[in-house]
Amino acid sequence: MLHPLPDELLKVPHRRDVPFARLTTLGVGGLCRWLFEPTTDQEAQAFVRACAREGLPWRVLGGGSNLVVLGDVVLPVLRLALPKEVHREGTKITAPASHGHIALAEAAANLGLSGLEFASGIPGSLGGAIRMNAGAYGHEWVEVLARYRFLTPEGELVDKAPEPGEFRYRWSFLTGGRVVLSATAALVEGDPAIIRAKVAENRARRGTSQPISKRNAGCIFKNPPGQSAGRLIDLAGLKGLRVGDAEVSAEHANFLVNHGKASATDFAELMAQVQARVRDFHGVALEPEVEIWRE
Ligand code: FAD
Ligand code: EPU
Repeated sequence: MLHPLPDELLKVPHRRDVPFARLTTLGVGGLCRWLFEPTTDQEAQAFVRACAREGLPWRVLGGGSNLVVLGDVVLPVLRLALPKEVHREGTKITAPASHGHIALAEAAANLGLSGLEFASGIPGSLGGAIRMNAGAYGHEWVEVLARYRFLTPEGELVDKAPEPGEFRYRWSFLTGGRVVLSATAALVEGDPAIIRAKVAENRARRGTSQPISKRNAGCIFKNPPGQSAGRLIDLAGLKGLRVGDAEVSAEHANFLVNHGKASATDFAELMAQVQARVRDFHGVALEPEVEIWRE
């Protein structure tokens, strides 16, 4: 057990026993026993430093849109609650990591800045998107990322431009106790009406190809090189495969949906069945794209 948590940690704003149903888009998992919600970079730094000093493991949560939580989480969870301001300098915009991702794409469009249209249907926070190098329609974050600020696992603040090897398909090195605090996108000027139309078009495309009206965590598995995991799952005949209230979506087979009461066990079981059957059918090992929290 974690008790007692150090005093410096308990000075950071926090809540107890928040259900993951409220913290994630998928809506499975148990309780977040300790949810720390710093409202400034300094409070976030105090959290990381206190945990580092105590040798205490912890986790960082954004919008919870790429997360499958398989039970209660007793480790302290950090979720940034920084002021939601977007700062423009020329054609660059900077926002805090806790800024809504879709809202940021919309803000860029309204400012007449092009480059984030791909992001317009990807939920969650900016921090989660940088950590995941989120992408869609042939684009991903690293293409527009000019600078980012993050805390090291020891709580040191780093402000830098991206370098080769730091980001690739649905992956970045920003794991293992690193916390993105803010990011700057380098965009180009364009006609706001045209940019807004592209944003709307991208969002509409989702409505026809993804089950956005049901609870889900986006694509569950990574696309194997040159292939679509959704297509492989579909070809294996798994649409509609169901464990309890968890089901392989009929609209897009790489989305597993929660019909309302799915348990963590239902989800873990359904993911394992999909992996086993795709391996048998295609000889392909699917790797989770979502983050899985077991404790
Ligand atoms: P979370 O789910 O909260 O966390 C994801 C990971 O990021 C965790 O490891 C967490 O620890 C880490 N993290 C969160 N915040 C920080 C931070 N500040 N610093 C360091 N690490 C952090 N993704 C795509 O790439 N493309 C898509 O087209 C897409 N479509 C989606 C559609 C739907 C309907 C849904 C529900 C999801 C979709 N996703 C997609 C997945 C998801 O939206 C992205 O991965 C998103 O960027 C995750 O952001 P988040 O804030 O919700 O992260
Ligand atoms: N397809 C099927 N059956 C299905 C699903 C897809 O046959 O059930 C086929 C489609 O018809 C299409 C091909 O597979 O020919 C690719 O499908 P889609 O365009 O939907 O793209 P995807 O490869 O399945 C990827 C990302 C999505 C992103 C879209 C759009 C991954 C794992 N998925 O999906 O990202 O939104 O492209 O760019 O990289 C996510 O990461 O969570 C995510 C949703």
